[in-house]
Amino acid sequence: MKKYKIVLLSGDGIGPEISEVSKKVLKKLSKNHNFDIEIIEKLFGGIAYEKYGTPAPDETLDQCKKSDAVLLACVGDIKYDSLARELRPESGLLKLRSALNLFANIRPVKIRKSLLDSSTLKKEIVEHVDLIVVRELIGGIYFGKPRGHITNTQIPKAFNTMIYDSAEIERITEIAIKIAKQRNKKICSVDKSNVLEVSQLWRDTVLNIALKDKDISLSNMYVDNAAMQLVKDPGQFDVILTSNLFGDILSDLAAMLTGSIGMLPSASLNNNGPGVFEPVHGSAPDIAGKNMANPIAMLLSASMMLKIGLNEEKAAENLETAVDKVLSNGFRTADLADGSSKVLSCSEIGDKIINEI
Ligand code: IPM
Ligand code: MG
Repeated sequence: MKKYKIVLLSGDGIGPEISEVSKKVLKKLSKNHNFDIEIIEKLFGGIAYEKYGTPAPDETLDQCKKSDAVLLACVGDIKYDSLARELRPESGLLKLRSALNLFANIRPVKIRKSLLDSSTLKKEIVEHVDLIVVRELIGGIYFGKPRGHITNTQIPKAFNTMIYDSAEIERITEIAIKIAKQRNKKICSVDKSNVLEVSQLWRDTVLNIALKDKDISLSNMYVDNAAMQLVKDPGQFDVILTSNLFGDILSDLAAMLTGSIGMLPSASLNNNGPGVFEPVHGSAPDIAGKNMANPIAMLLSASMMLKIGLNEEKAAENLETAVDKVLSNGFRTADLADGSSKVLSCSEIGDKIINEI
């Protein structure tokens, strides 16, 4: 029997609630599909700061490095916003991404048929949405140096550096090409090369590589226009390739096409070594502990983990089908509720999904 060791980081806010559902789902899948999954739980984020004074303790990072994959719920809470930057949960997340060298962040945005009416956009606009944001994850302005505050001036100043070298752009472009080849072979690279040098290098480098590949049709778009096009005609996109900051912004925007950010999974990958699979959404402290969170983005992240991280494709499909079945039966969590749906709690919708597995 295949045996996997995964690390579960349930983090903060709604994290523990959606993780409970994920654990049960993974156990059931492992039984049905004949594999053994050891789930090692570690502290990460605000909760780790509370206990150890750091959001990403070495012991957690070491376990992650030794695992087959990491499943992460979410981190953060406003109560940590006044901490020194390196102690905040978000910094822990950046440290984890960087420690595992997870340069490629894959965010699929797919409309599920039963949720066509849940988007804030008209059905005709969103019905053909099936795109993937490929976001560079450990470079750009998130990590660029120098960065900091200048305090010896009359008015306070602060600055960051948006920087890429061509090797970083090349490796994420290769990933986008690989993904595009399994789809419609269309890549739209998003930058701001009409203003930024770093984006000019981005555009030139992507062009250089993609042009060598006759299979790929490449277009370029400025990020402001891409934001507009994602709302105007999102069906035109297949693979969106972009940098860390632009990918962060555009993936939240794209998430809303599906009706709720509570539906969007992601995978953060390296060319070898364990990936981190996590929902795109945050920790939603306002609804934490109320058993009303939507666990589906985390379940779909678990499905990406099964498929990409553990090669358990059948189990991944089983989970996706179960989610679709429950949604098409009209069951929803509060974030997706419309007049006609049956609103369930986080654990209730989890149980419905488990019954369909
Ligand atoms: C995301 C999040 C993170 C990011 C935050 C929590 C640091 O918004 O994964 O999109 O900006 O990358
Ligand atoms: Mg984000």
